[in-house]
Parts: sequence; C-alpha cells; structure tokens
Amino acid sequence: MSQFSFHRPELARSICDSLQGKGITDARSGLFLAAPRRVGKTTFLREDIIPEATSRGWVTVYVDLWENKKAAPELLLADAIKSEIARHEGVITRLARASRLDKISVMGTLSLDFSRPGLPENVTLANALEILRTLARAPVLVIVDEAQHALSSSDGINAMFALKSARDQINASSEAPDLMLVMTGSNRDKLAHLVINKAQPFYGSSVSPFPLLGRPFTDAFAAWANNGLSPDNQFQPDAVFEAFKLVGGRPQMLRDIMGSVALSGEASNLSALLRQGAQEWQDRVWGEFENEFDALSPLQQAILEVLIRKKKTGFSPFSEESMAAYKALIKGETLSPASVQTALDSLRERNLVWREARGAYALEDDGLAEWFLTTRGKTAMDDEQSPQATTPAISETSNLP
Ligand SMILES: Nc1ncnc2c1ncn2[C@@H]1O[C@H](COP(=O)(O)OP(=O)(O)O)[C@@H](O)[C@H]1O
Ligand SMILES: [Mg+2]
Repeated sequence: MSQFSFHRPELARSICDSLQGKGITDARSGLFLAAPRRVGKTTFLREDIIPEATSRGWVTVYVDLWENKKAAPELLLADAIKSEIARHEGVITRLARASRLDKISVMGTLSLDFSRPGLPENVTLANALEILRTLARAPVLVIVDEAQHALSSSDGINAMFALKSARDQINASSEAPDLMLVMTGSNRDKLAHLVINKAQPFYGSSVSPFPLLGRPFTDAFAAWANNGLSPDNQFQPDAVFEAFKLVGGRPQMLRDIMGSVALSGEASNLSALLRQGAQEWQDRVWGEFENEFDALSPLQQAILEVLIRKKKTGFSPFSEESMAAYKALIKGETLSPASVQTALDSLRERNLVWREARGAYALEDDGLAEWFLTTRGKTAMDDEQSPQATTPAISETSNLP
C-alpha cells in the first residue's frame, strides 16, 4: 500500500485565492499554517499547492527547513531562490536581445555561484526575489515548510525579516501581490512566535490551523484498500474514519495499521481489528509521554504543567505568577529562579521543551499537552484550557482556511 495519494484541489484553489487577496480570507501578508507532524502538510504543499500555483503562472520557491537540520535556514532559503533563478536564466539572453539593458544590469549584480551557499554580499534576499520575479515575469510564491526552525538562530530570524521586507518592497509597487508567502510549522506555539511578538518579523499576522485530511480522504482510502481485498473481507468506511481520528489524522499510521490488519486476514473482523490497532497505537504514544513525564523531578513536572496551561495566554517562566504556581504544585516554601533555570535547561536537554533564540519557551511536541490535559488535567490548578483546544479537529469534511 504505497501509491495512494489523495488530492484537495479546491482547498489549494481557495488558499491561492486568499494569497491574492481574492478569497474570503485575505492572506496577502502571508499565510501561516500549523498542524502536528506527519499529517500531510508537505504532501499538500508539494502535490496540491505548487501545481495550483504553477497553473496560475506563478513561480514557486519551496524550502523545507527541516530537510537538512544542520544547514542554516538563511542559506537554504537563498539557495532555493538561486536554483529557481537558474531555471529562468535562459530568459536573460532573450532580454539582452530585446536590449532591456536596465534589467540586465540589475541582474548583473547576482552571480550564480553554486559552489558556494548563500547570496553574494551585495545582494539581499529581496534583490534575489526581485530578480527572479523580473526574469520569470510572474508573481513569486515563497513556501517555507517548517518555518519555525528559522527561529532557533538569530541569522534565521534575520532571514525571516528579510523575507518580510522583500514582501513589502515588492508588493508596494503593485496592486496584486507579486510576492506571496506560505509558512507551515509542525508546532503551533513555535510558529506563533513569528507573529505574536512586536519584535518578530510577521507581527500582526495570525497562525491558522492547517486543514487536516478528513472523511473524504478516509472514504477514498477505504475504497482504494477494499479494491484489493475480497468482497467478504472489506473495511467499513466508518471504522476507517474512527481509526484515522485515533491516530491523530496521520495517513501513514492509518496505512500501516490497515496494512497489517488486512494481512492478518480475519475477514469478518477487519473493522474491530482496525479500531484495536489504532487504539493500541495511541496507547503506545501516550505511554511514552507518561514514562517521560513520570521520570521528571517535581519541579520539572510543575514547570511543564504551568507551561501547558499558560500556552495560550503566554508562558513566562520567571514571572511572579509562574513562580507561585510552581511553589503550589511542588508544595514548597521557597524556590529560586536559578533552580527554575536548571530545571528548564534539563527539560530542553530531554527534548520536551524548546527555547526560541530570544528566550521564549514552548513545548517540543504539542501531543504532550493533549496527553497531559486529558489524563492529568484535573488537578488543583484552574483549568484554563480544555483538552479539546489542543486536539486537532478532524472534521467530516476538510474545512477551508
Ligand atoms: N493526501 C495524502 N494522500 C495519501 N497519503 C498522504 C497524504 N498526505 C500525506 N500522506 C502520507 O503521510 C505521510 C506524512 O505526510 P507529510 O506530508 O510528510 O506530513 P507533514 O509534512 O505534515 O509532516 C507521508 O508518508 C505521506 O505519504
Ligand atoms: Mg513536512
């Protein structure tokens, strides 16, 4: 079971409309989409958004900041623009023949040196994008997949500022946007750092949930899988949808579970086995959260709990309020900021907590909040966030942004 691919062309169309400022939602300043890992963001960008953009005559620059975690985000971005320019390079000669010399001298500042990463010193990201737009004579769509990764370093943040200023420069001169931006992230809280703080590049924009695959996907997938099974050995569409919800909307997980259930070949029992398989998967994931959480010191647990409950309103680790909340949770009389710092550092080492370059904290994996609020949520602290708030909503139909 590997070649099934579900497409959402209407969703891609409505997203592209909103990037142009035509749709119900106006995303001319950029579209920020968040959803957990493995739910199909990259697949949707590559297989639905890029083809839709191409059919509109746009040029797309796609970069995945996670593809190569060691590479610096600003260099990945510059190189993605460079290779797109290279694809349009042939146009330079045509322009030269048309004696558009002014344009050529702009382009003359950019030497395409592929033996070296990044852009020449005298060329900004905005210059490079402007050159690409001029060469291609088309609007440019820049897609940054896993954009939150740029926030871990100051060079990465600067690259985001450069993108924003490119957007402002290029769009200032035209009615329809000539530079459009889509950013995705596997962690809503991290992605939100790009937009919620005045000091951040996209302050004022907002993060929308990436529309998860829903019932149309599971129905199509069930039909596709049933095609290869005997008539008395069929998956029920309802059971497939239920299982999909249990695995958090992750197509690969669903595929794996259905594959092993189908192999076991207990004809009449497929649906029950499917439900059981999906439940076991969730139990395993939650069991891992439980083990990790229980291995922490009381102070580390208290910090995580406060972070989880405050993640909507903003968590500040050393505020009077947070310090009081830790103390209440560990039932301690005194607590120093130094020991909170030590605990935070070890939460980072354990990959439970992430620290943005400018000092804000967020969960590494949103699933931990979902597990905590569902299984441990009812404690002394006031509930400021319902479990539903963090559970990705998988709807009967895939909702438009
Ligand atoms: N529309 C789809 N149809 C079929 N399989 C999909 C679809 N979207 C995602 N998948 C599968 O799910 C897995 C994870 O998808 P991916 O796009 O990498 O997720 P993300 O970028 O959100 O982490 C991939 O292996 C892919 O094959
Ligand atoms: Mg991805």
